[in-house]
Amino acid sequence: MTATVIDGKAFAAKVRGLVQAQVANLIEVQGITPGLAVVLVGEDPASQVYVRNKHASTIEVGMASFEHRLTVDTSEAVLLALIHRLNADPAVHGILVQLPLPGHLNSELIINTIDPAKDVDGFHISNVGLLGTGQKSMVPCTPLGCLMMLRDHHGSLSGLNAVVVGRSNIVGKPMAQLLLGDSCTVTIAHSRTKDLAAVCRGADILVAAVGRPEMITGDFVKPGATVIDVGINRIERDGKTKLVGDVHYASAAAVAGAITPVPGGVGPMTIACLLANTLTACCRANGLPEPVGLTA
Ligand code: GUN
Repeated sequence: MTATVIDGKAFAAKVRGLVQAQVANLIEVQGITPGLAVVLVGEDPASQVYVRNKHASTIEVGMASFEHRLTVDTSEAVLLALIHRLNADPAVHGILVQLPLPGHLNSELIINTIDPAKDVDGFHISNVGLLGTGQKSMVPCTPLGCLMMLRDHHGSLSGLNAVVVGRSNIVGKPMAQLLLGDSCTVTIAHSRTKDLAAVCRGADILVAAVGRPEMITGDFVKPGATVIDVGINRIERDGKTKLVGDVHYASAAAVAGAITPVPGGVGPMTIACLLANTLTACCRANGLPEPVGLTA
């Protein structure tokens, strides 16, 4: 079998188009412009690239973008004061504090100071609890993007066996909750799972978010299964730096029914879902109906 390639780049463009159309409508009909504030502390090169991309995408869909760049030695008190200001600012509907933060800052305290209604990352403990109990919440962007691609490919996910490899708070755990919400039978596996290959072979939907380059090979994949690769790993091969996922693409694609590539799979969906979440937060803040096709 040769797997269908799930084109995350094209799907993300479609999601951004949906966001853009609904933003234009909000501005025209309600006179409301959704706004996203991104806070970057320090000069981590990877974070700078992410923040630049977020800014450009936010502007592109017609939203307001507020960037706050703080020096690496910024105190916790100063950062907390900024978050309180953004919480109180009616032009700001979404707040994202770029992680990782410098070591002297308490990330949990910072994230839990964001107004949960503006927590477009879905990392605030209130949103984690709401998602875990099946209530309306802000949902972390990467798992939301995976869910959208799975729904698009399968239609209903009801009754399917899903295995999520990885137990992080950012991807693995919320992914499992979302799949459970769509009535999958869900297993969370991880690097210490006994006979991981056999567990994975039981999956109709296999989500790899373990952070180990090319760990999931074709012998982990049930014939015809859908494989979602969340991994983004930089490796050296043949003297060149290469981007690979947590899935060994060639061997998995030979067995799977559908698969996301790296790059061009899950990656582009993350920023698209950040924009979707900002629009959702804006609609909720203004008592308007939820945006169409952009929520869990
Ligand atoms: N750093 C890398 N990815 C993310 C993300 O999705 N959200 C935040 N806040 N920081 C990140």
